Amino acid sequence: MPLYRRPNGIDLPFSSEITPQDIFESRRSFIKQIAVGAVGAGSLLQLSSGEAWAQAAGAQKLAAKANPAYVVMDKATSYKDATTYNNFYEFGSDKSDPVENAGNLKTRPWTVAIEGEVKKPMTLDIDSLLKLAPMEERIYRLRCVEGWSMVIPWIGYSLSELIKKVEPTGNARYVEFTTLADNRQMPGLRAPVLEWPYVEGLRMDEAMHPLALLSFGMYGQVLPNQSGAPVRMVLPWKYGFKSAKSIVKIRFLKDQPRTAWNIAAAREYGFYSNVNPDVDHPRWSQATERRIGEDGFFTKKRKTLMFNGYNDVASLYSGMDLKKYF
Ligand code: MTE
Repeated sequence: MPLYRRPNGIDLPFSSEITPQDIFESRRSFIKQIAVGAVGAGSLLQLSSGEAWAQAAGAQKLAAKANPAYVVMDKATSYKDATTYNNFYEFGSDKSDPVENAGNLKTRPWTVAIEGEVKKPMTLDIDSLLKLAPMEERIYRLRCVEGWSMVIPWIGYSLSELIKKVEPTGNARYVEFTTLADNRQMPGLRAPVLEWPYVEGLRMDEAMHPLALLSFGMYGQVLPNQSGAPVRMVLPWKYGFKSAKSIVKIRFLKDQPRTAWNIAAAREYGFYSNVNPDVDHPRWSQATERRIGEDGFFTKKRKTLMFNGYNDVASLYSGMDLKKYF
C-alpha cells in the first residue's frame, strides 16, 4: 500500500508471463472450440488471461456461468501477474510477499459468521457458502488506490444473495467485513502497519448493489490464497483496499464501522473510497492509472474513470459531495 510506495512512484518491474509449449497447444484447441461456438465470451477472456496456465499449475477448478452483463472489453490481466503482484498485508507488505507466504494458509475448514442487526444470524461453512447461489463469472476492472489496475475474471455471486438470506433488521445501515488474523499463519501481522484484523465496510445500499461481488474464484478456479481464499469481496467501483480478503465475519450495524486504512491514515483513506479521478490522494494524483501488464518505460498511462467506469452506482451517491465523502 501507499506507505511503502517508493519515492519515485515506480514499483519494481516484474517478469512477463511465461507460456510453455503445452499451454500454447491447449490454447490452440481452445481457440478451435471458440470457433465452433462451444464456449462463451467470458471464457475467451479467460483464455487470453492465462486460464490454461492456471489449470496447468494444478489449481482446483470452480465452475461458473459467464454473466454477459458484467464483461469489460479490455484485455484481461495475465493469471501470473494477478497472482504474483498482490496486496495482502497479513502476509507482508511487498507485492511478492503474499504469493511467497500465503501458500500454507488453511482455507478448510473455514466458516463465516454473519451477525449483528439480522433476524437470522448464522455461521456458514465454506461449502454452504459455495452452494448458496449460482456461481457467475464476471470480468471486472479493479483499481488500486496506489495507481495501478487489473482486469480479472472473478467467480462468485452478488453479496445481496447472502444478505437476503439473513434478513437484516430495520436498524441495519452498514455492513462490516472482518478478515482472518492468525499469528501462526500470517507473518505480516507482526508488523504494526495496520490495526489487525483487517476490517472494511459498506453502507447497506452499496452492499445490496448487484455489482458487489462475494468472490470464491478467479480464472476458472478457486481463489489462490494470495488472492483472498477462500472468500473475499470484489467492489469494482471502489479502490481495491475496500475489497476485503479471506473474510471470517460479516456484521450488520446501525453505525458506520471503523475501517483498517481509515484508522491508519484518516486523511488519506475515507470510508467511501470510490474511484474518483477528480479527488487526488493527498500525496499523488488519481487521474491516471498504470494497467498491470502494460508496463514499459514509454507506455502511456490510462485515464482513470469516475467510479472506475461503473456508472450504474452513481445513483447511490446522488446529492453527496464526493470530495467531502471521499
Ligand atoms: N484484504 C486483506 N485482508 N488484507 C489486505 O492487505 N489489501 C487490499 C485488498 N484486500 C488487503 C485486502 C488492497 S490494498 C488491494 S489493492 C486488494 O486487496 C488487492 O487485491 P489483489 O491482490 O487480489 O489484486
